[in-house]
Amino acid sequence: MDHAPWTGHRTDHRTELRRAYAGGKLTELPVFAGGFINFGFWRAIPLDGPLTAEDRVASQAALYDLVLDALSPTGRSTLEVGCGQGVGARRTLLRSPARCAGVDQEPEQVERARAAAPDAEFAVGSAGSLPFGDGEFERLLSVEAAQHFDDLGAFAREAARVLSPGGRLAVTTFFAADASAAPELSRLLATFASGLDLPHPIGGFLDRLREAGFDGVTATSVGEHVWRGLDRWLELGPAPERWDRNWLVAAERGLLDYHLVTATKPAGSGA
Ligand SMILES: C[S@@+](CC[C@H](N)C(=O)[O-])C[C@H]1O[C@@H](n2cnc3c(N)ncnc32)[C@H](O)[C@@H]1O
Repeated sequence: MDHAPWTGHRTDHRTELRRAYAGGKLTELPVFAGGFINFGFWRAIPLDGPLTAEDRVASQAALYDLVLDALSPTGRSTLEVGCGQGVGARRTLLRSPARCAGVDQEPEQVERARAAAPDAEFAVGSAGSLPFGDGEFERLLSVEAAQHFDDLGAFAREAARVLSPGGRLAVTTFFAADASAAPELSRLLATFASGLDLPHPIGGFLDRLREAGFDGVTATSVGEHVWRGLDRWLELGPAPERWDRNWLVAAERGLLDYHLVTATKPAGSGA
């Protein structure tokens, strides 16, 4: 059912992505903070009292830490796909000071990333056609970007191509429970209705990774540490900029969940 690349509203999807990320307006919203653009991983942050902007930044940095912890700590080269404004690359470099590259589809994001993390290297490019050579990286990560990729099969094949044998992949974002969730997600959430976010079923992504040759493909639900924290932040936020609180509703109805997906390129495979 979800085997084919996503094709519906393709023009709207590209237009929506430009609108969201080229102008940088999304990161000016108080829902995000510190240059990150993700929902955050709130496990270590108490949610029963007031939340500060520092808490919000810490939640987003913690989502990067979750992904970095899932990668081999000794990897000497890391590629981030959908790197946004480069603050995640800065964090990656802090934790493992080795080659760190980022790729993003929007040239404006890449410019911002270069300013934020001068010690990393950045390129404009798409998840389905990565501008790097075969086997260049030992680790590949992506944080809250795969919900925008219109062809997860192409992304999986490109990830397998640019990783060296034994290389590790860690991807985190929200996925639909299955293909039947799409209409309800569009009714509940403006970003699905507009075509900015795509309701990729989690099972389909795992299948695409296996088809691309990855071993040990695993999805771990981390939603319990995402949705309540995000909703609490939205509840406390200034009303005019309040983001859509239906994320928690959609998660509670089992329509979508936030996952950490990990996989390994077999050590014996070609670069
Ligand atoms: C929600 S932001 C996340 C940014 C960053 N990872 C973070 O957590 O702060 C998603 C990013 O993915 C980028 N993006 C969307 N589709 C892409 C694609 N097909 N290939 C590469 N980047 C893409 C967007 O331009 C945007 O910068």
